[in-house]
Amino acid sequence: MATIACSDAGTADREDSAATALSSQKTSAAQANLRNIVPAPVSVQSRSGQDFSLTAHTVIGAGACSAEVQRVGEYLAGLLRPATGFALRVRPVDATAHTGIVLLLGGANAQVGTEGYELDVTTERVILRANTPAGLFAGAQTLRQLFPANIESSTRQNGPWTVGGGHILDFPKFEFRGGMLDVSRHFFGVDTIKHYIDHLARYKLNHMHLHLADDQGWRIQIDAYPQLTAIGGSTEVGGGAGGFYTKADYTEIVKYAAARYITVIPEIDMPGHVNAALASVPELNCNNQSPPLYTGVDVGFSSFCMDDAHRAVVSKFVDDVVRELAELTPGPYIHLGGDEAHSTPVADYIAFEQRTLPVVEKYGKTAMGWHDILKSTPDTRTLAQYWGTTPTDSTVEQAAKRGAKFLISAANLTYMDMKYTEATPLGQDWAGLIEVQDAYNWDPATYLTGVPSKQVVGVEAPLWTETILNLANIEFMLFPRIPALAERVWSPSTHTWDEFKVRLASQGPRWKNANIDFYASPQVPWP
Ligand code: ACM
Repeated sequence: MATIACSDAGTADREDSAATALSSQKTSAAQANLRNIVPAPVSVQSRSGQDFSLTAHTVIGAGACSAEVQRVGEYLAGLLRPATGFALRVRPVDATAHTGIVLLLGGANAQVGTEGYELDVTTERVILRANTPAGLFAGAQTLRQLFPANIESSTRQNGPWTVGGGHILDFPKFEFRGGMLDVSRHFFGVDTIKHYIDHLARYKLNHMHLHLADDQGWRIQIDAYPQLTAIGGSTEVGGGAGGFYTKADYTEIVKYAAARYITVIPEIDMPGHVNAALASVPELNCNNQSPPLYTGVDVGFSSFCMDDAHRAVVSKFVDDVVRELAELTPGPYIHLGGDEAHSTPVADYIAFEQRTLPVVEKYGKTAMGWHDILKSTPDTRTLAQYWGTTPTDSTVEQAAKRGAKFLISAANLTYMDMKYTEATPLGQDWAGLIEVQDAYNWDPATYLTGVPSKQVVGVEAPLWTETILNLANIEFMLFPRIPALAERVWSPSTHTWDEFKVRLASQGPRWKNANIDFYASPQVPWP
Protein backbone atom coordinates (compact mmCIF):
# COMPACT_ATOMS: atom_id res chain seq x y z
CA MET A 1 0.00 0.00 0.00
CA ALA A 2 1.30 3.43 -0.88
CA THR A 3 1.79 5.50 2.22
CA ILE A 4 3.45 8.66 0.98
CA ALA A 5 2.87 8.80 -2.74
CA CYS A 6 -0.65 10.07 -2.31
CA SER A 7 -1.33 13.69 -3.22
CA ASP A 8 -4.81 15.14 -3.22
CA ALA A 9 -3.92 18.37 -4.84
CA GLY A 10 -1.59 17.78 -7.74
CA THR A 11 -3.89 19.29 -10.32
CA ALA A 12 -5.76 21.70 -8.11
CA ASP A 13 -6.64 24.96 -9.74
CA ARG A 14 -4.98 27.61 -7.66
CA GLU A 15 -6.68 30.85 -6.76
CA ASP A 16 -5.43 33.80 -8.80
CA SER A 17 -2.70 35.75 -7.16
CA ALA A 18 -4.25 39.18 -7.67
CA ALA A 19 -3.95 39.79 -3.98
CA THR A 20 -3.83 43.29 -2.65
CA ALA A 21 -1.41 44.64 -0.11
CA LEU A 22 -2.63 44.82 3.45
CA SER A 23 -1.82 48.41 4.17
CA SER A 24 -4.12 50.19 1.73
CA GLN A 25 -7.28 48.26 2.61
CA LYS A 26 -10.37 49.72 4.15
CA THR A 27 -11.73 46.50 5.47
CA SER A 28 -14.42 44.43 7.10
CA ALA A 29 -14.06 42.91 10.56
CA ALA A 30 -13.31 39.63 8.80
CA GLN A 31 -10.50 41.31 6.90
CA ALA A 32 -9.17 42.74 10.18
CA ASN A 33 -8.81 39.22 11.58
CA LEU A 34 -6.38 38.46 8.75
CA ARG A 35 -4.04 41.07 10.23
CA ASN A 36 -4.34 39.89 13.81
CA ILE A 37 -3.00 36.34 13.59
CA VAL A 38 -0.71 35.15 16.39
CA PRO A 39 1.92 33.91 15.75
CA ALA A 40 2.24 36.14 12.68
CA PRO A 41 2.34 34.14 9.45
CA VAL A 42 5.23 34.50 7.03
CA SER A 43 2.99 36.26 4.51
CA VAL A 44 -0.61 37.45 4.51
CA GLN A 45 -2.38 39.05 1.56
CA SER A 46 -5.96 40.17 1.67
CA ARG A 47 -8.52 39.99 -1.14
CA SER A 48 -11.27 42.43 -0.33
CA GLY A 49 -14.64 41.39 -1.67
CA GLN A 50 -13.67 37.72 -1.39
CA ASP A 51 -14.87 36.97 2.15
CA PHE A 52 -16.13 33.44 2.81
CA SER A 53 -19.14 32.64 5.00
CA LEU A 54 -19.62 29.41 6.89
CA THR A 55 -23.23 28.25 6.83
CA ALA A 56 -25.34 25.41 8.19
CA HIS A 57 -24.70 23.63 4.87
CA THR A 58 -20.92 23.98 4.74
CA VAL A 59 -19.09 20.70 4.33
CA ILE A 60 -15.50 20.19 5.38
CA GLY A 61 -13.82 18.25 2.63
CA ALA A 62 -10.73 16.42 3.72
CA GLY A 63 -8.32 14.99 1.18
CA ALA A 64 -9.42 11.51 0.26
CA CYS A 65 -5.92 10.09 0.31
CA SER A 66 -5.39 9.97 4.01
CA ALA A 67 -7.29 8.92 7.11
CA GLU A 68 -5.08 11.31 9.04
CA VAL A 69 -6.27 14.24 6.94
CA GLN A 70 -9.83 13.15 7.73
CA ARG A 71 -8.89 13.33 11.42
CA VAL A 72 -7.56 16.87 11.02
CA GLY A 73 -10.81 17.73 9.25
CA GLU A 74 -12.76 16.30 12.20
CA TYR A 75 -10.58 18.28 14.60
CA LEU A 76 -11.35 21.49 12.70
CA ALA A 77 -15.06 20.65 12.62
CA GLY A 78 -14.87 20.04 16.37
CA LEU A 79 -13.48 23.55 16.87
CA LEU A 80 -16.19 25.17 14.77
CA ARG A 81 -19.30 23.17 15.72
CA PRO A 82 -20.06 24.30 19.31
CA ALA A 83 -20.35 28.05 18.66
CA THR A 84 -21.91 27.81 15.20
CA GLY A 85 -24.29 24.97 15.99
CA PHE A 86 -23.68 23.74 12.42
CA ALA A 87 -23.35 20.04 11.58
CA LEU A 88 -20.18 20.60 9.49
CA ARG A 89 -19.96 17.14 8.05
CA VAL A 90 -16.47 15.96 7.14
CA ARG A 91 -16.33 14.19 3.75
CA PRO A 92 -13.49 12.79 1.66
CA VAL A 93 -12.92 14.99 -1.39
CA ASP A 94 -10.23 15.77 -3.92
CA ALA A 95 -8.97 19.06 -5.29
CA THR A 96 -11.90 19.49 -7.61
CA ALA A 97 -14.19 20.24 -4.65
CA HIS A 98 -15.47 23.72 -5.33
CA THR A 99 -17.30 24.66 -2.17
CA GLY A 100 -16.82 24.55 1.56
CA ILE A 101 -13.62 24.17 3.48
CA VAL A 102 -11.17 21.82 1.78
CA LEU A 103 -8.06 20.29 3.37
CA LEU A 104 -5.57 18.90 0.86
CA LEU A 105 -2.37 16.99 1.38
CA GLY A 106 0.18 17.91 -1.27
CA GLY A 107 0.27 20.78 -3.72
CA ALA A 108 1.44 23.39 -1.24
CA ASN A 109 4.33 25.70 -2.03
CA ALA A 110 7.52 23.75 -1.23
CA GLN A 111 8.61 26.59 1.06
CA VAL A 112 6.08 25.51 3.69
CA GLY A 113 8.17 22.44 4.52
CA THR A 114 6.92 19.81 6.95
CA GLU A 115 4.96 22.02 9.35
CA GLY A 116 3.74 24.94 7.24
CA TYR A 117 0.68 25.46 5.06
CA GLU A 118 -1.01 27.65 2.50
CA LEU A 119 -4.50 28.98 3.09
CA ASP A 120 -6.64 30.43 0.32
CA VAL A 121 -9.92 32.11 1.15
CA THR A 122 -12.37 33.13 -1.55
CA THR A 123 -16.13 33.61 -1.56
CA GLU A 124 -16.57 30.08 -2.91
CA ARG A 125 -14.31 28.10 -0.67
CA VAL A 126 -11.45 27.90 1.80
CA ILE A 127 -8.59 25.72 0.66
CA LEU A 128 -5.94 24.63 3.10
CA ARG A 129 -2.94 22.92 1.53
CA ALA A 130 0.08 21.39 3.23
CA ASN A 131 2.70 18.76 2.58
CA THR A 132 1.95 16.96 5.85
CA PRO A 133 -1.01 16.51 8.21
CA ALA A 134 0.96 18.54 10.79
CA GLY A 135 0.95 21.44 8.35
CA LEU A 136 -2.81 21.12 7.87
CA PHE A 137 -3.21 21.13 11.63
CA ALA A 138 -1.19 24.37 11.91
CA GLY A 139 -3.34 25.86 9.15
CA ALA A 140 -6.49 24.87 11.05
CA GLN A 141 -5.22 26.87 14.04
CA THR A 142 -4.81 29.89 11.77
CA LEU A 143 -8.23 29.44 10.18
CA ARG A 144 -9.74 29.33 13.66
CA GLN A 145 -8.38 32.84 14.30
CA LEU A 146 -9.96 34.16 11.10
CA PHE A 147 -13.45 33.60 12.50
CA PRO A 148 -15.05 36.08 14.92
CA ALA A 149 -13.87 35.73 18.54
CA ASN A 150 -17.08 34.07 19.69
CA ILE A 151 -16.17 31.02 17.59
CA GLU A 152 -14.31 30.05 20.78
CA SER A 153 -17.48 29.75 22.83
CA SER A 154 -18.59 26.28 23.91
CA THR A 155 -22.25 27.28 23.46
CA ARG A 156 -24.19 28.36 20.40
CA GLN A 157 -23.60 31.99 19.37
CA ASN A 158 -24.87 34.32 16.67
CA GLY A 159 -22.90 34.59 13.44
CA PRO A 160 -22.36 35.57 10.75
CA TRP A 161 -19.33 33.30 10.53
CA THR A 162 -17.30 35.20 7.97
CA VAL A 163 -13.63 34.70 7.12
CA GLY A 164 -11.72 37.44 5.30
CA GLY A 165 -10.75 36.67 1.71
CA GLY A 166 -7.02 36.34 1.24
CA HIS A 167 -3.97 34.15 0.92
CA ILE A 168 -1.60 33.06 3.68
CA LEU A 169 1.70 31.29 3.26
CA ASP A 170 3.23 30.18 6.53
CA PHE A 171 5.90 27.99 8.10
CA PRO A 172 7.86 28.01 11.37
CA LYS A 173 11.21 29.61 12.02
CA PHE A 174 12.37 26.98 14.56
CA GLU A 175 11.76 23.25 14.61
CA PHE A 176 11.41 22.93 18.42
CA ARG A 177 8.64 24.98 19.99
CA GLY A 178 7.68 23.80 23.41
CA GLY A 179 6.18 24.14 26.83
CA MET A 180 7.09 22.35 30.06
CA LEU A 181 4.82 21.62 32.98
CA ASP A 182 6.21 20.64 36.38
CA VAL A 183 3.81 17.95 37.60
CA SER A 184 6.04 17.07 40.56
CA ARG A 185 5.77 20.15 42.80
CA HIS A 186 2.03 19.97 42.27
CA PHE A 187 0.32 17.13 40.47
CA PHE A 188 -2.19 17.77 37.67
CA GLY A 189 -4.58 15.12 36.39
CA VAL A 190 -4.95 13.95 32.80
CA ASP A 191 -7.80 16.39 32.06
CA THR A 192 -5.69 19.38 33.08
CA ILE A 193 -2.81 18.12 30.96
CA LYS A 194 -5.17 17.90 27.97
CA HIS A 195 -6.14 21.55 28.45
CA TYR A 196 -2.45 22.45 28.67
CA ILE A 197 -1.80 20.55 25.41
CA ASP A 198 -4.67 22.41 23.75
CA HIS A 199 -3.18 25.72 24.85
CA LEU A 200 0.17 24.79 23.29
CA ALA A 201 -1.52 23.60 20.09
CA ARG A 202 -3.50 26.82 19.73
CA TYR A 203 -0.23 28.73 19.20
CA LYS A 204 1.50 26.08 17.07
CA LEU A 205 3.86 24.74 19.71
CA ASN A 206 4.96 21.19 18.99
CA HIS A 207 6.64 19.77 22.11
CA MET A 208 5.35 19.18 25.64
CA HIS A 209 7.92 18.37 28.31
CA LEU A 210 6.60 16.86 31.55
CA HIS A 211 8.85 17.25 34.60
CA LEU A 212 7.79 13.91 36.09
CA ALA A 213 10.04 13.54 39.12
CA ASP A 214 11.56 15.90 41.66
CA ASP A 215 12.08 16.07 45.41
CA GLN A 216 8.37 16.49 46.09
CA GLY A 217 6.87 13.78 43.91
CA TRP A 218 7.40 10.86 41.51
CA ARG A 219 4.57 10.94 38.98
CA ILE A 220 4.97 8.04 36.55
CA GLN A 221 4.32 4.32 37.08
CA ILE A 222 7.51 2.26 36.83
CA ASP A 223 6.79 -1.46 37.08
CA ALA A 224 10.24 -2.36 38.38
CA TYR A 225 9.74 -0.07 41.41
CA PRO A 226 6.05 0.14 42.38
CA GLN A 227 6.98 2.00 45.56
CA LEU A 228 8.08 5.03 43.48
CA THR A 229 4.46 5.97 42.90
CA ALA A 230 2.95 4.28 45.99
CA ILE A 231 5.24 6.30 48.26
CA GLY A 232 6.91 8.93 46.08
CA GLY A 233 3.67 9.90 44.36
CA SER A 234 1.70 10.31 47.57
CA THR A 235 2.26 13.98 48.29
CA GLU A 236 3.27 17.35 46.83
CA VAL A 237 4.30 20.86 47.87
CA GLY A 238 2.20 21.88 50.85
CA GLY A 239 1.42 18.28 51.80
CA GLY A 240 -1.55 17.61 49.47
CA ALA A 241 -2.37 14.15 48.18
CA GLY A 242 -0.20 14.36 45.03
CA GLY A 243 -0.86 11.64 42.50
CA PHE A 244 0.75 9.94 39.54
CA TYR A 245 0.10 8.80 35.99
CA THR A 246 -0.41 5.11 35.38
CA LYS A 247 1.12 3.84 32.16
CA ALA A 248 -2.37 3.95 30.65
CA ASP A 249 -2.75 7.61 31.71
CA TYR A 250 0.61 8.52 30.21
CA THR A 251 -0.23 6.70 26.98
CA GLU A 252 -3.52 8.60 26.81
CA ILE A 253 -1.62 11.87 27.20
CA VAL A 254 0.88 10.89 24.49
CA LYS A 255 -1.97 9.99 22.15
CA TYR A 256 -3.88 13.21 22.81
CA ALA A 257 -0.71 15.22 22.20
CA ALA A 258 0.13 13.27 19.03
CA ALA A 259 -3.31 14.04 17.60
CA ARG A 260 -2.28 17.70 17.97
CA TYR A 261 1.19 17.12 16.47
CA ILE A 262 2.83 17.60 19.86
CA THR A 263 5.72 15.37 20.95
CA VAL A 264 5.81 14.43 24.63
CA ILE A 265 9.19 14.59 26.39
CA PRO A 266 9.33 12.85 29.77
CA GLU A 267 11.86 14.10 32.32
CA ILE A 268 13.21 12.26 35.33
CA ASP A 269 15.50 14.75 37.06
CA MET A 270 18.71 13.19 38.45
CA PRO A 271 21.14 12.81 40.20
CA GLY A 272 19.80 15.73 42.30
CA HIS A 273 16.13 16.66 42.78
CA VAL A 274 15.55 13.00 43.76
CA ASN A 275 14.11 13.03 47.29
CA ALA A 276 10.88 11.34 46.18
CA ALA A 277 12.93 8.46 44.72
CA LEU A 278 15.17 8.29 47.81
CA ALA A 279 12.07 8.21 50.04
CA SER A 280 10.67 5.31 48.01
CA VAL A 281 13.75 3.15 47.31
CA PRO A 282 16.03 2.82 50.39
CA GLU A 283 18.95 1.30 48.48
CA LEU A 284 19.49 4.53 46.51
CA ASN A 285 20.69 6.09 49.81
CA CYS A 286 24.24 5.63 51.13
CA ASN A 287 22.90 4.44 54.51
CA ASN A 288 20.23 2.31 52.79
CA GLN A 289 17.57 4.20 54.71
CA SER A 290 14.89 6.34 53.12
CA PRO A 291 14.52 9.97 54.17
CA PRO A 292 11.01 11.29 54.79
CA LEU A 293 8.91 12.62 51.94
CA TYR A 294 9.46 16.32 51.27
CA THR A 295 6.73 18.93 50.79
CA GLY A 296 8.75 22.18 50.94
CA VAL A 297 10.25 24.21 48.10
CA ASP A 298 14.02 24.09 48.71
CA VAL A 299 16.34 22.76 46.00
CA GLY A 300 19.77 21.15 45.90
CA PHE A 301 19.63 18.97 49.01
CA SER A 302 19.16 15.47 47.55
CA SER A 303 21.40 13.12 45.56
CA PHE A 304 21.54 9.49 44.59
CA CYS A 305 24.29 7.77 46.56
CA MET A 306 27.50 8.05 44.53
CA ASP A 307 29.79 5.71 46.49
CA ASP A 308 31.33 2.64 44.86
CA ALA A 309 29.19 0.24 46.87
CA HIS A 310 25.99 1.76 45.44
CA ARG A 311 27.09 2.19 41.83
CA ALA A 312 25.50 -1.04 40.59
CA VAL A 313 22.17 -0.50 42.34
CA VAL A 314 21.90 3.13 41.17
CA SER A 315 22.85 2.14 37.63
CA LYS A 316 20.24 -0.61 37.58
CA PHE A 317 17.61 1.82 38.85
CA VAL A 318 18.45 4.36 36.15
CA ASP A 319 18.51 1.68 33.45
CA ASP A 320 15.09 0.29 34.48
CA VAL A 321 13.50 3.74 34.63
CA VAL A 322 14.92 4.88 31.29
CA ARG A 323 13.96 1.59 29.61
CA GLU A 324 10.35 1.75 30.83
CA LEU A 325 10.04 5.43 29.90
CA ALA A 326 11.52 4.79 26.46
CA GLU A 327 9.04 1.96 25.89
CA LEU A 328 6.15 4.31 26.71
CA THR A 329 7.41 7.27 24.70
CA PRO A 330 7.20 7.35 20.90
CA GLY A 331 8.99 10.72 20.68
CA PRO A 332 12.77 10.89 20.24
CA TYR A 333 13.74 12.46 23.58
CA ILE A 334 14.20 11.32 27.16
CA HIS A 335 15.14 14.21 29.48
CA LEU A 336 17.47 13.36 32.38
CA GLY A 337 17.37 16.70 34.19
CA GLY A 338 20.80 17.18 35.71
CA ASP A 339 20.25 20.68 37.13
CA GLU A 340 21.18 21.97 40.57
CA ALA A 341 22.86 18.76 41.76
CA HIS A 342 24.43 20.74 44.61
CA SER A 343 24.66 17.68 46.88
CA THR A 344 26.52 15.57 44.32
CA PRO A 345 30.32 16.09 44.25
CA VAL A 346 31.32 17.49 40.83
CA ALA A 347 33.57 14.56 39.89
CA ASP A 348 30.80 12.11 40.80
CA TYR A 349 28.27 14.17 38.84
CA ILE A 350 30.45 14.06 35.72
CA ALA A 351 31.03 10.31 36.06
CA PHE A 352 27.30 9.76 36.63
CA GLU A 353 26.32 11.68 33.49
CA GLN A 354 28.95 9.89 31.44
CA ARG A 355 27.44 6.57 32.52
CA THR A 356 23.82 7.67 32.26
CA LEU A 357 23.45 9.68 29.05
CA PRO A 358 24.48 6.63 26.94
CA VAL A 359 21.69 4.60 28.58
CA VAL A 360 19.20 6.82 26.75
CA GLU A 361 20.96 6.04 23.46
CA LYS A 362 20.95 2.34 24.32
CA TYR A 363 17.15 2.45 24.43
CA GLY A 364 16.95 4.21 21.09
CA LYS A 365 16.31 7.74 22.30
CA THR A 366 18.14 11.06 22.32
CA ALA A 367 19.15 12.45 25.69
CA MET A 368 18.15 15.92 26.81
CA GLY A 369 19.32 17.65 29.95
CA TRP A 370 19.41 21.06 31.59
CA HIS A 371 22.60 22.80 30.45
CA ASP A 372 24.37 21.84 33.70
CA ILE A 373 25.05 18.47 31.99
CA LEU A 374 27.53 20.22 29.68
CA LYS A 375 30.02 19.98 32.57
CA SER A 376 30.29 16.30 31.67
CA THR A 377 31.09 17.11 27.99
CA PRO A 378 28.39 14.85 26.56
CA ASP A 379 28.49 14.02 22.87
CA THR A 380 26.80 16.43 20.52
CA ARG A 381 23.67 14.32 20.14
CA THR A 382 22.65 15.34 23.68
CA LEU A 383 20.34 18.35 23.54
CA ALA A 384 21.19 20.95 26.19
CA GLN A 385 18.35 23.07 27.57
CA TYR A 386 19.74 26.45 28.60
CA TRP A 387 17.99 27.86 31.67
CA GLY A 388 20.46 30.58 32.71
CA THR A 389 19.55 34.22 33.10
CA THR A 390 22.33 35.80 31.04
CA PRO A 391 23.28 35.23 27.41
CA THR A 392 26.91 34.44 28.23
CA ASP A 393 28.12 31.17 29.75
CA SER A 394 31.62 29.80 29.15
CA THR A 395 30.56 26.13 29.39
CA VAL A 396 27.87 26.81 26.80
CA GLU A 397 30.34 28.54 24.49
CA GLN A 398 32.79 25.64 24.71
CA ALA A 399 30.04 23.12 24.03
CA ALA A 400 28.88 25.19 21.05
CA LYS A 401 32.41 25.00 19.60
CA ARG A 402 32.17 21.20 19.85
CA GLY A 403 28.91 21.36 17.89
CA ALA A 404 26.33 21.05 20.69
CA LYS A 405 22.74 22.05 19.98
CA PHE A 406 20.65 24.17 22.33
CA LEU A 407 17.08 24.59 23.36
CA ILE A 408 16.62 28.02 24.93
CA SER A 409 14.66 28.36 28.17
CA ALA A 410 16.42 31.41 29.61
CA ALA A 411 14.77 31.75 33.01
CA ASN A 412 14.44 35.56 32.85
CA LEU A 413 12.63 35.39 29.48
CA THR A 414 10.78 32.07 29.21
CA TYR A 415 10.00 30.85 32.75
CA MET A 416 6.24 30.99 32.98
CA ASP A 417 6.39 30.83 36.78
CA MET A 418 8.10 34.22 37.07
CA LYS A 419 5.73 36.93 38.21
CA TYR A 420 4.61 39.58 35.72
CA THR A 421 5.04 42.34 38.31
CA GLU A 422 5.75 42.45 42.04
CA ALA A 423 1.99 42.42 42.56
CA THR A 424 1.35 39.13 40.68
CA PRO A 425 -0.28 36.83 43.26
CA LEU A 426 1.27 33.62 41.87
CA GLY A 427 4.79 32.65 40.91
CA GLN A 428 8.33 33.52 41.90
CA ASP A 429 10.79 36.29 41.08
CA TRP A 430 14.28 34.80 41.50
CA ALA A 431 15.00 35.17 37.75
CA GLY A 432 13.27 38.56 37.54
CA LEU A 433 9.83 39.83 36.62
CA ILE A 434 8.61 38.92 33.12
CA GLU A 435 5.97 41.24 31.72
CA VAL A 436 4.59 40.23 28.35
CA GLN A 437 6.82 42.74 26.52
CA ASP A 438 9.88 41.14 28.15
CA ALA A 439 8.74 37.70 27.00
CA TYR A 440 8.43 39.08 23.46
CA ASN A 441 11.41 41.41 23.03
CA TRP A 442 14.30 39.07 22.27
CA ASP A 443 15.57 36.91 19.44
CA PRO A 444 16.25 33.22 20.11
CA ALA A 445 18.49 33.01 17.03
CA THR A 446 21.04 35.47 18.41
CA TYR A 447 20.46 35.24 22.15
CA LEU A 448 23.26 32.92 23.33
CA THR A 449 26.77 34.34 23.02
CA GLY A 450 28.98 32.10 20.90
CA VAL A 451 26.14 29.84 19.74
CA PRO A 452 25.44 30.13 15.99
CA SER A 453 21.73 30.25 15.15
CA LYS A 454 21.95 26.93 13.30
CA GLN A 455 22.78 25.30 16.66
CA VAL A 456 19.62 26.69 18.28
CA VAL A 457 16.75 24.23 17.83
CA GLY A 458 14.16 26.50 19.40
CA VAL A 459 12.56 27.67 22.61
CA GLU A 460 10.71 25.99 25.45
CA ALA A 461 8.65 27.81 28.09
CA PRO A 462 8.82 25.94 31.44
CA LEU A 463 6.13 26.37 34.09
CA TRP A 464 7.40 25.32 37.53
CA THR A 465 4.55 24.78 39.93
CA GLU A 466 5.63 25.48 43.50
CA THR A 467 2.85 28.11 43.66
CA ILE A 468 0.59 26.78 40.89
CA LEU A 469 -2.36 24.70 42.08
CA ASN A 470 -4.86 24.28 39.25
CA LEU A 471 -5.74 24.93 35.60
CA ALA A 472 -6.79 28.55 36.23
CA ASN A 473 -3.37 29.23 37.81
CA ILE A 474 -1.63 27.57 34.84
CA GLU A 475 -3.60 29.70 32.38
CA PHE A 476 -3.00 32.93 34.30
CA MET A 477 0.76 32.40 34.03
CA LEU A 478 0.71 31.26 30.36
CA PHE A 479 -1.58 33.92 28.93
CA PRO A 480 -0.55 36.30 27.44
CA ARG A 481 3.11 35.23 27.57
CA ILE A 482 2.86 31.89 25.76
CA PRO A 483 1.58 33.52 22.53
CA ALA A 484 4.42 36.06 22.79
CA LEU A 485 7.00 33.27 22.95
CA ALA A 486 5.17 31.31 20.27
CA GLU A 487 5.56 34.24 17.91
CA ARG A 488 9.26 34.49 18.68
CA VAL A 489 9.80 30.84 17.82
CA TRP A 490 7.41 30.57 14.83
CA SER A 491 7.37 33.94 13.04
CA PRO A 492 10.00 35.88 11.08
CA SER A 493 11.96 38.08 13.49
CA THR A 494 10.92 41.29 11.71
CA HIS A 495 7.82 41.85 13.85
CA THR A 496 7.90 44.52 16.55
CA TRP A 497 6.29 44.83 19.95
CA ASP A 498 4.25 47.85 18.82
CA GLU A 499 2.38 45.88 16.18
CA PHE A 500 2.44 42.59 18.11
CA LYS A 501 0.68 44.12 21.12
CA VAL A 502 -2.26 45.09 18.90
CA ARG A 503 -2.54 41.57 17.51
CA LEU A 504 -2.16 40.14 21.01
CA ALA A 505 -4.96 42.40 22.24
CA SER A 506 -7.29 40.86 19.66
CA GLN A 507 -6.70 37.46 21.27
CA GLY A 508 -8.20 38.59 24.58
CA PRO A 509 -11.85 38.21 23.51
CA ARG A 510 -10.99 34.74 22.16
CA TRP A 511 -9.66 33.70 25.58
CA LYS A 512 -12.73 35.17 27.29
CA ASN A 513 -15.01 33.17 25.00
CA ALA A 514 -12.95 30.03 25.64
CA ASN A 515 -13.02 30.60 29.43
CA ILE A 516 -9.24 30.84 29.56
CA ASP A 517 -7.99 32.79 32.55
CA PHE A 518 -5.34 35.40 31.67
CA TYR A 519 -3.38 38.32 33.04
CA ALA A 520 -4.79 41.53 31.54
CA SER A 521 -1.41 43.21 31.25
CA PRO A 522 -1.60 47.03 31.12
CA GLN A 523 1.04 46.85 28.35
CA VAL A 524 -1.59 45.48 25.93
CA PRO A 525 -4.38 47.64 24.39
CA TRP A 526 -7.18 45.14 25.09
CA PRO A 527 -10.42 46.00 23.28
C1 ACM B 1 15.90 24.83 36.74
O1 ACM B 1 15.21 25.84 36.74
N1 ACM B 1 16.49 24.41 37.86
C2 ACM B 1 16.13 24.05 35.54
